[in-house]
Amino acid sequence: MPTTTGTQQLYQDAPIAAGAEIQTTIRMRQVNKIYHSGKIAFHALKDVDFTVTQGDFVAIMGPSGSGKSTLMNIIGLLDELTSGYYELNGHNVGDLSDDDRAFLRNQEIGFVFQSFNLLPQLTLLENVELPLVYAAVSQRERRERALAALTEVGLDRWQGHRPVEVSGGQMQRTAIARALVTRPALLLADEPTGNIDSQASLEIMNLICGFNQRGTTVVLITHEKDIANYANRLIMIRDGRLTEDALYERSPANSSSIATPTAPAAHSEVSHSHNPANSGSSLAATPANPADSGSSFAANPANPTEVSHV
Ligand SMILES: Nc1ncnc2c1ncn2[C@@H]1O[C@H](COP(=O)(O)OP(=O)(O)OP(=O)(O)O)[C@@H](O)[C@H]1O
Ligand SMILES: [Mg+2]
Repeated sequence: MPTTTGTQQLYQDAPIAAGAEIQTTIRMRQVNKIYHSGKIAFHALKDVDFTVTQGDFVAIMGPSGSGKSTLMNIIGLLDELTSGYYELNGHNVGDLSDDDRAFLRNQEIGFVFQSFNLLPQLTLLENVELPLVYAAVSQRERRERALAALTEVGLDRWQGHRPVEVSGGQMQRTAIARALVTRPALLLADEPTGNIDSQASLEIMNLICGFNQRGTTVVLITHEKDIANYANRLIMIRDGRLTEDALYERSPANSSSIATPTAPAAHSEVSHSHNPANSGSSLAATPANPADSGSSFAANPANPTEVSHV
């Protein structure tokens, strides 16, 4: 059931098991990003407040050019913010040297991109090994760990093949193995199913869900509502601003569907920013996740309470 309480409050009030300590993975306050091209400045992120706690599975949706990849690149330490505060796993990113940032990125973040970004001249196994090369792991250990990661995504038999010799879905599974071979706390995925067919997309999402269930925090950008449905939290971004932030709860019956390549789990909504369009019977008549019914911000653009910063 949706409530009429602001998302921020509900998020902080979420029940915590006795003795459990929920740790913050991402904490952003008033983050702005301005790109400069010659004399032209473009304000790509505007006063973004964003908190992600360990174990979250966050989907980010928004129109093309709204700032999704910009936000992802800043979260992933691939780009720097123009102003504001950003803390990753307890580290104030603004205080870090370039070397420290690179170390943090290698140790704590795995990336998956729409275009796979595998090196074509390397085998799948060698691609998965790469983050361990940068982490100066011994050759023997990195072989073992890369093979274990490839096995986890079901590609051990393909270890000696090059990317051009396998399908898009297999390339993306390799990219997931590469992202997770260092056992990072955070997986960032920018449209991971954008270049693969629907069956391969299911396999990719089942893999990502499996890693999330074993503790990896996931932040995923997608244009596809079906893909966003796998997350337990949906962020909407528009013109560089976060405009919605909604939490969902998987019912036990739904969560079992994650393990098999079937339809994504439907969600029960546990909280939502104020939006009459999402309350009461309108939810019962539509899928629980507003991603299924289009952007509720778009349905109610005049409602300023729609804007919720976490
Ligand atoms: N390096 C850059 N220099 C100048 N402007 C940029 C740069 N990178 C992104 N932008 C601009 O910032 C805005 C946000 O871009 P971003 O790539 O974050 O959008 P997006 O939401 O990921 O879009 P898409 O869904 O098409 O991937 C766009 O208007 C884009 O043109
Ligand atoms: Mg993008």
